[in-house]
Amino acid sequence: MHYDTRLKDHGLPHDPFTALVVPRPIGWISSLDRQGGLNLAPYSFFNAVSGRPPFVIFASNNRKHSQANVEETGEFTVSIASSAQRVEMNASSAPVPAGVDEAALLGIDMAPSRLVRPPRVAKSPAALECAYVKSVALTGRDGAVHPTTIVIGEVLGVYIDDRVIVDGRVDFLRLQPLSRLGYRDYGVLTEVFEMPRPTAEEIMPG
Ligand SMILES: Cc1cc2nc3c(=O)[nH]c(=O)nc-3n(C[C@H](O)[C@H](O)[C@H](O)COP(=O)(O)O)c2cc1C
Repeated sequence: MHYDTRLKDHGLPHDPFTALVVPRPIGWISSLDRQGGLNLAPYSFFNAVSGRPPFVIFASNNRKHSQANVEETGEFTVSIASSAQRVEMNASSAPVPAGVDEAALLGIDMAPSRLVRPPRVAKSPAALECAYVKSVALTGRDGAVHPTTIVIGEVLGVYIDDRVIVDGRVDFLRLQPLSRLGYRDYGVLTEVFEMPRPTAEEIMPG
């Protein structure tokens, strides 16, 4: 099959687009509002876009509390949502009013960050302490500005639970990152394999 995204002529009961760009990591984003109130919400339009230096992005489908807080107070953390945290992660996505602390509401323990003010999710196996860089609104080819905005952050500090480090490397099966698939489906990591990158000489004949 093939469909035109402008015509939405896929003929399926649900738009398949987000079910195809998978798996997506889930960034569990904490931020503070101007009054210092905590906010916690999951974002799967989230990724690292540079390693050296480390930068991350998340996209907000409209100006939700996380985007507003990050733009207004300049900092956020991204806790890695592990498989074991799936229920709390999902619960924290409920559209509660501004000023409601999802972590306190749901009994999610937070731990202080070192380089930014918003705390991280205490039981997450890893967390990124980020400084807000800028927001980029999505503008279509026709010049129309869409409600989605990409928020860019520079990663200043990285927390890793020592238990997920084995022989000096992050052990992915211990990290157990929860991944977002499409619809209401999620995936967990069950197998890891290594594949060194080839040199040019290895793939070029002669
Ligand atoms: C796994 C998961 C991933 C999500 N990813 C996004 C996302 O990338 N962008 C978005 O705008 N909303 C996303 N949502 C919905 C937000 O979490 C939800 O709207 C939440 O209430 C936003 O909270 P906030 O207003 O406190 O930032 C996601 C929800 C779940 C459960």
